[in-house]
Amino acid sequence: MPRYRNSLKWDDDDDKKTGKASLTRRTFLAIIGFGALAGVVHMTMSTVLGFLYPNALKTPPSVFSLGRPEDLLKMEGTKMFISKQKVFIEVAGGKVRVQTAVCTHLGCTVNMVDTGYLCPCHGSTYDKEGLNTGGPAPKPLVYFSVYPGASGDLLVDKNKKVEIPAKAWKGLKV
Ligand code: FES
Repeated sequence: MPRYRNSLKWDDDDDKKTGKASLTRRTFLAIIGFGALAGVVHMTMSTVLGFLYPNALKTPPSVFSLGRPEDLLKMEGTKMFISKQKVFIEVAGGKVRVQTAVCTHLGCTVNMVDTGYLCPCHGSTYDKEGLNTGGPAPKPLVYFSVYPGASGDLLVDKNKKVEIPAKAWKGLKV
């Protein structure tokens, strides 16, 4: 028989004999209650912190620096992917242009392949200029405006799109 009312313990002497502590109903409920309280506190703090630090601060700014033109000239003949901004930077013929790496179908990041670009999500393909050539992608990969900033760095504005690839080049000669 339980020693106390509302107790899961059958016999204290059993604990002494076996050397194992048994769990009382009160302790069990206290653990459950503490766990529930901890969960509520965690959810409340997550909500408050999410409000204080909204997602807008976590997304990269739409205007970013490419660096100095003279440094970009050293990358002549290359095309590289910048993961933070999800863009490709191409330097050729003393000029630079910046193209989105975001698939125009549902927004996956495309990969560079020999023929141009391939989206890993649903198989859309683009040629080397970013023109959509297959799959569900409805539009080409756009380029972004590149212009000199006050500090001498070249800046990219992802809000200013350049639809025609040939017009996206920006000269790097100083
Ligand atoms: S998101 Fe690229 S093909 Fe669907």
